[in-house]
Amino acid sequence: MIRDGFDSALDELRTAQRGGKDWIAKLQADEIASTGIASLKVRFNSVFGYYIEVTKSNLDKVPAHYHRKQTVANGERFITPELKEMEGKILGAEERSVKLEYEIFQHVREEVLGQLPKIQQTASALAQLDVLASFAETARLHNYSRPQILDEGILQIRDGRHPVLEQQLVEERFVPNDTGLASSERGLQTASMSEEDSGVKRPEGRAPQIALITGPNMAGKSTYIRQVALLALLAHTGSFIPAAEARIDLVDRIFTRIGASDDLSRGQSTFMVEMTETANILNNATPRSLIVLDEIGRGTSTFDGLSLAWSIVEHLHNQVGAKTLFATHYHELTELAVRLPRLKNFNVAVREWHDQIVFLRKIVEGGTDKSYGIQVARLAGVPKEVLERAKQILSNLEESELTPEGNVRQPRRQQDRDKLKQLAPPPQMDLFEE
Ligand SMILES: Nc1ncnc2c1ncn2[C@@H]1O[C@H](COP(=O)(O)OP(=O)(O)OP(=O)(O)O)[C@@H](O)[C@H]1O
Ligand SMILES: [Mg+2]
Repeated sequence: MIRDGFDSALDELRTAQRGGKDWIAKLQADEIASTGIASLKVRFNSVFGYYIEVTKSNLDKVPAHYHRKQTVANGERFITPELKEMEGKILGAEERSVKLEYEIFQHVREEVLGQLPKIQQTASALAQLDVLASFAETARLHNYSRPQILDEGILQIRDGRHPVLEQQLVEERFVPNDTGLASSERGLQTASMSEEDSGVKRPEGRAPQIALITGPNMAGKSTYIRQVALLALLAHTGSFIPAAEARIDLVDRIFTRIGASDDLSRGQSTFMVEMTETANILNNATPRSLIVLDEIGRGTSTFDGLSLAWSIVEHLHNQVGAKTLFATHYHELTELAVRLPRLKNFNVAVREWHDQIVFLRKIVEGGTDKSYGIQVARLAGVPKEVLERAKQILSNLEESELTPEGNVRQPRRQQDRDKLKQLAPPPQMDLFEE
């Protein structure tokens, strides 16, 4: 516990201890020389202390002043008066130094206790300084800017970046994106403020309350919506943020529903967790909250999931009023923009090139109607036959996905049967015919 040099009495005891151990190490060499027993060993155990061990074949060479102490399987153990004397010194010094060390420790502890308030205040000041200095260093190193913290019902970010991902990307450069959201209570008048006022580029017209983000797999939807939540959080901690410019509203809470997880030990399946978290958001969010929802409804059947996602968006729009980012693969939801004035569609731009896709990572206005899931599956290494077959199935299914008016259509039984009949390769038995 106590370092050398702190207490001279302790140092002396330790020197005695070390000196004794050196003496014993030297003893082995001396005894080997004087007895001619090359395999002779000086050892220690907690029952006998120090002893000299000689193997059976060398017992005839043992000198008369060795006292036999114990017989073991392959030899005998001896002690000598000098060895016992040195042992006493070493063990005595050891015992006293342990005792002294503990006394010193208790004394130090008492002194610290006497200065407790000062030490704690200093620690707390240093901790705060550490956080602020880290904010400053990070802001300088990575080109962060100072957000304006407002209470106007809006959230505007120009060229926002994901603070973690932008540091991790090596092959690709991180593509910055804009955000403009307004909560439904007060957002409408401020959102119509001119661009010169804010300096923040907004999507045309007023900022929406809900940004519905569609786009291919791997395009960057999840990254984008998390980035907005992270930037809002960072701004609230007092940090600068990775963006060219930002106006960020004080929020009462940031709600997120992201990723698949379960809690089996507490009897919650993946979908149950998803819905429990969603319920918490719907029941507690206010117009001052920021909500980030990723792939709501993914954990159940397509029609159940789509129906839930649909009514959740409507509820957020009509009842909750919170600024919301909603990423989804249910392209049917983009239809909601026609009926809900404060909802706007966005997608993450990609270019199609031959049968490949190039990700542009840019959030643009408008919805998408393709997920490119099969192309992404190919990138991931799914076997070719599986991909080919998936393509056939997709083109068959797509025809019945929406009604001509763009609404969700419940699949008609007979129609589905006909579809599946066409899909099944001829020699297979039909699953649905008796
Ligand atoms: N703005 C960006 N700049 C550069 N790379 C990005 C950007 N956004 C995302 N990426 C890269 O794209 C990858 C996929 O992004 P993300 O998980 O957000 O896609 P997604 O659209 O949510 O896909 P899925 O539909 O499969 O969930 C990220 O891991 C990251 O490497
Ligand atoms: Mg995602």
